[in-house]
Amino acid sequence: MNPLTSVKGMRDILPPSSAVWNQVEAAARRIFARFNYREIRTPILEETALFARGVGEETDIVSKEMYTFEDRDGTSLTLRPENTASVLRAYIQQRLDQEPGVHKLYYIGPMFRRERPQKGRYRQFYQIGAEAIGSDSPAIDAEVIQMVLAILDEVGIAGYKLLINSVGSKESRARYNEILREALREAAPQMCGDCRRRAETNPLRVLDCKVPEDQPIIEKLPSILDSLDESDREHFRRVREFLDDLGIRYTVNPRLVRGLDYYARTTFEVTHGALGAQNAILGGGRYDGLAEILGSKVPAPGIGFSIGEDRLVMTAEEAQAMTPAVLDLYVAPMGEAALRHALVLATEIRKTGISVEVSTDRKLKRMLEIANKTGARYTLIIGDNEIASQSYTLKNMATGEQTSATRQKLLEHTQWLK
Ligand code: HAM
Repeated sequence: MNPLTSVKGMRDILPPSSAVWNQVEAAARRIFARFNYREIRTPILEETALFARGVGEETDIVSKEMYTFEDRDGTSLTLRPENTASVLRAYIQQRLDQEPGVHKLYYIGPMFRRERPQKGRYRQFYQIGAEAIGSDSPAIDAEVIQMVLAILDEVGIAGYKLLINSVGSKESRARYNEILREALREAAPQMCGDCRRRAETNPLRVLDCKVPEDQPIIEKLPSILDSLDESDREHFRRVREFLDDLGIRYTVNPRLVRGLDYYARTTFEVTHGALGAQNAILGGGRYDGLAEILGSKVPAPGIGFSIGEDRLVMTAEEAQAMTPAVLDLYVAPMGEAALRHALVLATEIRKTGISVEVSTDRKLKRMLEIANKTGARYTLIIGDNEIASQSYTLKNMATGEQTSATRQKLLEHTQWLK
């Protein structure tokens, strides 16, 4: 029998990489706190209708990528492919609209899309995301964009590119859809099957097509910016003005309609050259009107983003932006009595806040080898003599220097841990 393996496109995150994941998340949480965003945790399973209605039936996500199954009572459930619809569902269900102010929420967790796995694309992947719900002010758009860039800076990532666009209000989009439908009457027969279908059902989604042969045709289609009404134009102008005030550099890309139906007005993406084909490190935008689609009687305009954490970690690792945590002290006890002594001593030293591992190996040579290989900073050797004299041998693994250390000195680690 072959050993069992993980499901295709779903991976294990192992040390030392898991430490980078933790550091990236800690960096994001620091920035969220500075912008007064608080954490929301929603279920990983939702009723299928939430995504079908929220994200849109004609999107790639809903039409071919969701993990959907029937619960034992016949309810159709789906592993969340994204979290904005869930956060809005929670906002409406928990009546957060009754509390004053803009609700600023963030989340970190796994999402599921049955895409073709490749570098930077998985079937279980992780997002770090945020949603600001309760305002349509363009100042919020600029601040959300500023915050996501602050996370990239905090993680130590440079060389990214910010793309922005406006897909307009529902009415502007409906107008653009008609213009596109018209333009596609001639162009669509030369395009892929998905495009031919979408040219009829939801022409905007033709712009998401990734088929290389279709790209020159898509390039020539009319720009959505020409269909924006006066108030959309003004909104977008003010977003750009705020971004300029904040010194944020961006490129306007009128093809950036993003692959989810809920977007209205501002959309944005950040790409990074180090990522290869799947170069979007994050994406986001405004979704005024989504609350109503999900059945809310009260409007709840909002804007947010999701960072692909797998891609963020990959970029951070390539840039060596994070320093992995190392073990401070590896204790090598020689013999049974020394092991008993070591466990008690390690307990005391850990209380001073440093990391300590006690070896259960028997041979000193092997213990020193392990200390070396695992990158421990110091090794403490404990034998019968050391116990008798109450003084241990402390070895600096980087320099090889050995000193003797009493229990007291070990407990005042500022004296020796450099
Ligand atoms: P999205 O563009 O579908 O937007 O996903 C956001 C990011 O998640 C992508 O830019 C990418 O980095 C990452 N991502 C997506 N699919 C995968 C995958 N299969 N493997 C690895 N990473 C992936 C959303 O999900 C929206 N909820 C963003 C948003 C929040 N808009 C408003 N608020």
